[in-house]
Amino acid sequence: MDSSAGSRKAAAMSGDVPSMAPDDALEPPTPAVTTADRCMVLESVDSTNTQARKQLCEPILADASAFPLYVLLANEQTGGRGRLGRTWVSGHGTSFLSSFVARIPTALATGACSGWLTTIAGIDAVEALRAIAKRHGADPRHIGLKWPNDVYWDGLKLGGILTELAAVHAGLGDDAVVIFGIGINLFLDERPTAIATSLHRHVPGLPAYPVLRNELAQLIAQRLRQDLHTYCADGAASIAMFRQCAEALSCTLGRRVSVELPDGTRITGVAQGIRSNAALEIRVDDRAGNAGSAGDTANSSGTVVAVTAGDVGLIPQAVPEQGSVPPHAAAQAAAPAHSLRFA
Ligand code: BTN
Repeated sequence: MDSSAGSRKAAAMSGDVPSMAPDDALEPPTPAVTTADRCMVLESVDSTNTQARKQLCEPILADASAFPLYVLLANEQTGGRGRLGRTWVSGHGTSFLSSFVARIPTALATGACSGWLTTIAGIDAVEALRAIAKRHGADPRHIGLKWPNDVYWDGLKLGGILTELAAVHAGLGDDAVVIFGIGINLFLDERPTAIATSLHRHVPGLPAYPVLRNELAQLIAQRLRQDLHTYCADGAASIAMFRQCAEALSCTLGRRVSVELPDGTRITGVAQGIRSNAALEIRVDDRAGNAGSAGDTANSSGTVVAVTAGDVGLIPQAVPEQGSVPPHAAAQAAAPAHSLRFA
């Protein structure tokens, strides 16, 4: 981090949005996120992604560093947004509500492989949560990535990621601003949906909300900074590594899934791989009952299709015995060490 980044961070931490300064009683004394170039902690916002777009887009475009990463955290959201136009429900001081803002080459943010951005953020969120679970004596392998953007604890949703393109400059040689909105249920007592869960239900002895919020932000920022740098510097060469990580952390692969495609058609089958463009590869049940090659599916070959966008539901399977590791964990036991880099 350069010294200008340090002074920016100091300015942010001293409260550059006075009307929305955090409740001091809730804040630990340490700076929130030292692994980002700039960190803003707000008490209540409509949506961290919306605020990040308004407040951090222009500054990050003007930032002199090569790969700046800013983060905006909030203790409460009044208009949280999810994928596919859904709302994202959270209480006050109970959820990790964050937007990580990065400036990366437009070609990588908008090209055929742009699906990797959400997957990379998902890998980083899962790895950060696994590190925290492990530190508190819980088996980190319960936490997995459900394609394309969900963080799961076994079959239940802990959180999700909403990746948005905030600013694109015209030339492919230019940079774009990408906002990774990451929401994780930490201390949520009321489940907003039947498949939702919260970290405190599974991991004992978690620290108080603001400490845990900052720890998670710190761990995710550290990984995201490193991974985006790798992705931007190495391009195609790094995709094999991210693909291996995504497959090792996936709780979708090997499962029967039902996918609603953007055009409303539905396919069911077994998820069997992640393609080099981050698409989910599915072996469909049959050709008659499935819209295998329709709409946004690409590269269909026989009964195997690649889904680049859609809503994926895991079809329930037999409940594992108490104390056993989740199904995807077996594959991870044989996974290469780097796939669990920080667990
Ligand atoms: C999803 O599962 O559909 C994605 C949910 C993303 C929610 C987070 S919470 C922080 C950030 N701000 C938002 O308004 N949404 C994302």
